[in-house]
Amino acid sequence: MRTLTRQPERRAGYVRAAGRAPLALYDPLVALTVRERTFRSRLLAQVLDGAPPERPLDLVEVGCGTGSFTTMLGGAGVRAIGIDGDPATLARARGKRGAEAVDWREGLADALPLPDASADRVVMSLLLHHLSPATQRTALAEARRVLRPGGRIHVADWGPARDPLMRLAFRGLQLLDGVENTAPLGNGELPGLLAAAGFGDQRLHDRLRTLGGPLELRSARAAG
Ligand SMILES: C[S@@+](CC[C@H](N)C(=O)[O-])C[C@H]1O[C@@H](n2cnc3c(N)ncnc32)[C@H](O)[C@@H]1O
Repeated sequence: MRTLTRQPERRAGYVRAAGRAPLALYDPLVALTVRERTFRSRLLAQVLDGAPPERPLDLVEVGCGTGSFTTMLGGAGVRAIGIDGDPATLARARGKRGAEAVDWREGLADALPLPDASADRVVMSLLLHHLSPATQRTALAEARRVLRPGGRIHVADWGPARDPLMRLAFRGLQLLDGVENTAPLGNGELPGLLAAAGFGDQRLHDRLRTLGGPLELRSARAAG
């Protein structure tokens, strides 16, 4: 576990929730552009699948943003931790219905404020494309570190566009969130990045056509 720098969201290259748009627009933008209800409910079902019956699931959402997904876990018998590098975004999360059931922490994806082997699930929903290619690799290694053997990472993020309409949608997203950080996922590099971080048993659960491009829901298991 590494110590946090002050004001991590001010680190060079940090992409805040709404990218270049004001933070207040983040939730409405997501609701309008990424088929939010469909993708979050599918992600929730995938994350809860195979939960241990004898104790609550320990779940961490890294880059939890305004907490839209993490707060869905309150009624699901889960011990949830929401981590984000931007205190202004976390303040919005803390104000949401269901927020009291979540342990919110300020922290960076590449230096998680968590012990080794302490989580059953790590969720990265719309996070990885905000990170530089080098930080994507470190963040996945951090997820692997904090997962118990057999635990799973769930990633909901952009995948390769396979037709002109999805390519156009993805270009629009790149205008908002940047090109360098979005390119690896758009180029289909995520499976290789997961494997390099020590994840196996990779599954592609869903690929949704959205106004931001093709949104893929994947999981992978931390080897024992
Ligand atoms: C697009 S938002 C996704 C929010 C949420 N997971 C969701 O599904 O709506 C990306 C979030 O990642 C956070 N973030 C960006 N870089 C980060 C980093 N290096 N460490 C931790 N959080 C980061 C941003 O502050 C932002 O809240």
